[in-house]
Amino acid sequence: MAKSHLELTGVEMAFDTPKGPFIALDNVNLKIQKGGEFVSLIGHSGCGKSTVLNIVAGLLQASRGGGCVLDGHEVNSPGPPERAVVFQNHALMPWLTVYENVELAVRQVFRKSMTRQERKDWITHNLELVNMPTPPTSGQARFPGGDGAAGGIARALAMKPSVLLMDEPFGGALDALTRAHLQDSLMEIQQELNNTVIMITHDVDEAVLLSDRIIMMTNGPAATVGGEDLHIDLPRPRNRVALADDAKYVHYRQEVLSFLYEKQRKLESLNSRRGSSAKPEAPAARHSASA
Ligand SMILES: Nc1ncnc2c1ncn2[C@@H]1O[C@H](COP(=O)(O)OP(=O)(O)OP(=O)(O)O)[C@@H](O)[C@H]1O
Ligand SMILES: [Mg+2]
Repeated sequence: MAKSHLELTGVEMAFDTPKGPFIALDNVNLKIQKGGEFVSLIGHSGCGKSTVLNIVAGLLQASRGGGCVLDGHEVNSPGPPERAVVFQNHALMPWLTVYENVELAVRQVFRKSMTRQERKDWITHNLELVNMPTPPTSGQARFPGGDGAAGGIARALAMKPSVLLMDEPFGGALDALTRAHLQDSLMEIQQELNNTVIMITHDVDEAVLLSDRIIMMTNGPAATVGGEDLHIDLPRPRNRVALADDAKYVHYRQEVLSFLYEKQRKLESLNSRRGSSAKPEAPAARHSASA
């Protein structure tokens, strides 16, 4: 059988806490067969989405299970430019401009392979991809409007990653129009570069609009991947206005909403009934969470 592009097998993640180990993830499996797929992870707050992403990024090591294997190699350290991360709060350095933030990453990766002028053009190109004005405003302590989100994406893209990992890239205080522009830019960029994207989101419409596949996570502790992945079979390029009343789009949206707000609730009440009659497993209490 052909090897997967990216695979997590039976991943468990236990965090040490003063009260003993806390099992955040239990038996998480994720398989991406080939590059170029846009996969979203969706689930309630605290279920373990960032933990999964950080394992793929190599920022966390799974406590048990097969860990993360990318193109046949085990991931055990952060790996730009192969994997680049857009963090939950963009994590740009506030004492630098957006341009300088991107420059720092580009210098780190392409110091030897690009001339100074090539690097400059490359930074400008990536900022333009996310509709950032160039030269960008300088010296700000904060990044206004969508600048932080756009800058975080530009910085990650500028490393030419084969896997782009995005933790709620549009989750900050973005107005609806800026968010829509950035989502459209991201779709265009991903179509052009054909890199693999794993994106965490809380937003059902964002997940359906952008993804080829949506992976729904059950609530933690001991979160896992719940049930079947949802394959989004909508032609690209996608237009949000045209899709708003497309029957397939509406169906996918319903599926995700139903998982988040109905199936999850049923699972939780089932688990709490089971939990009240079962002895908790020492040392950390676990709740079965398979769908
Ligand atoms: N370093 C840590 N030590 C102890 N517990 C942790 C640690 N990191 C995460 N957790 C716990 O693991 C669980 C999963 O956290 P995680 O940040 O992955 O959730 P999330 O789904 O990304 O949440 P959100 O949607 O709010 O960002 C949470 O209960 C969190 O409190
Ligand atoms: Mg998170």
